[in-house]
Amino acid sequence: MSRNHLVIICLAILSTASPAPAEDPATRGYRWLRTRPYLPADFDQAVFDRLWTNWPAPDRKKASAADQATRRRMTLDHYGLMPDPDAKDPTAGPALGHVPVASGGWAMNCLTCHAGRVDGRVIPGLPNTHLDLQTLVEDVRRTKIKMLKPLSHLDIVSVTLPLSTTRGTTNSVVFGIVLGNYRDKDMVVHLDRRPPKLIHHDMDAPPLWNVRHKTALYCDAFAPKNHRVLMQFMLLPSTSPQRLTSWEPAFRDILAWIESLRPPKYSGAVDLGLAEKGRKIFSKACATCHGTYGPTRSYPQRVVAIETIGTDPVRLNALTSDHRTWMKTGWLSRYGKDKVVLKPSGYLAPPLDGIWATGPYLHNGSVPTLWHLLHPKERPAVWRRTSESFDHERIGIDIESFDTVPDSAKTARSRRRYFDTSRPGKSAAGHLFPDKLTEAEKRAVLEFLKTL
Ligand code: HEC
Ligand code: HEC
Repeated sequence: MSRNHLVIICLAILSTASPAPAEDPATRGYRWLRTRPYLPADFDQAVFDRLWTNWPAPDRKKASAADQATRRRMTLDHYGLMPDPDAKDPTAGPALGHVPVASGGWAMNCLTCHAGRVDGRVIPGLPNTHLDLQTLVEDVRRTKIKMLKPLSHLDIVSVTLPLSTTRGTTNSVVFGIVLGNYRDKDMVVHLDRRPPKLIHHDMDAPPLWNVRHKTALYCDAFAPKNHRVLMQFMLLPSTSPQRLTSWEPAFRDILAWIESLRPPKYSGAVDLGLAEKGRKIFSKACATCHGTYGPTRSYPQRVVAIETIGTDPVRLNALTSDHRTWMKTGWLSRYGKDKVVLKPSGYLAPPLDGIWATGPYLHNGSVPTLWHLLHPKERPAVWRRTSESFDHERIGIDIESFDTVPDSAKTARSRRRYFDTSRPGKSAAGHLFPDKLTEAEKRAVLEFLKTL
């Protein structure tokens, strides 16, 4: 048999073998998130490995004595960056929310804020309530200056724009307003525009697994659910309109990934009898806004007027009507084909699937546990996460509470560990509906909430 014959036979065998299964859009979307940088690099391994030199004395001493792998783990924890749960050695490369850039370094992406840890488990789609973005970027800037390395966009922007004032929350809505300000409705960049008026405020990201139940995004449900709206975070002026268009297929996949997510199951024990009692109470006291769960679920996607809900109003007012109008008349909403609400009346009652895992609660992350949500008068004025352990009693973050931020927290970086509800945008007031329930009813509702 000639060589040509052999080649033909081999080709014939190969062509009858079943083709590799096509990757589904959701899997592909997650792959884009894990592999494609959509922003310039923020820092590289060398800078990351020197970040500990900026820490206050006790932590710095510990890091200096540790081996490299331990020190890298400490560095992830110090800033609330998540290790990649799929990596053989999560200390060998970038954190879950960063992606390697071909020209060197690591770029931040969606998962920095949208992948978190609860009860010891890292879960993509869970809000990252550990992240301390401001401290991270300040330390990156100092380290680069010491190492004579060039600064990146976040290092420079963060000098005038606060990225976050409390650990676990970010000023991300304002990032969106700033980036949008320099684009017209066709996404062409105009750097000569005057800076917009800004009301800085920190937000707690919502869990992404609930996006599939919604047609409108964000806590005031003003934006349509489409792949273009998801691209807001990528609107650095250096990204041309043509480039944005070329990313559309990938962002369709990323939306498919988001819609494929399911909430994690509660990790502790549930008293099913009590939960069943709770379900009945919930269906009378809560379901008109939050919907019903189980096989015949319903979700009304109700926006509740700010006067009725009574939670912190800053976010509602901070999103300028200029920004909302820009979205309504422009490319992000397909020039108004997808619905944009110019004047939302209040906040959306979110679906409560996986609610056990997503503390702290409310759009600004001001209420540390479900027990505190159900006991409005007992909500702490100031609180701080004390450990990684999950509070299985009250369901949420394990905290220590205070009347005011202790005097011992002298530096801005140590104050970021305290959630101070007296600061603008951080009120834990409102949502007083549970006041109607007796203590026994609240107990039952809390048990029911664990099952969602
Ligand atoms: C710096 C943190 C941060 C980054 C990075 C980030 N987000 Fe978000 N995301 C948030 C916050 C905070 C909100 C809530 C905003 C609001 O409700 O006004 C949010 C809201 C959302 C929502 C709406 C969810 C809902 O239920 O209404 C989606 C979808 C979303 N983000 C997707 C993404 C994608 C995709 C990326 C990357 C391209 C991304 N986010 C990057 C912080 C972030
Ligand atoms: C009139 C409508 C309404 C009723 C009734 C209502 N809620 Fe809510 N709920 C809301 C709104 C709106 C929010 C979002 C408020 C915010 O983030 O500022 C919310 C937020 C929540 C949250 C926090 C969600 C999160 O992701 O942080 C939980 C938990 C919750 N409600 C549980 C309940 C329970 C339990 C009941 C019944 C005892 C109840 N709600 C009754 C409208 C309602």
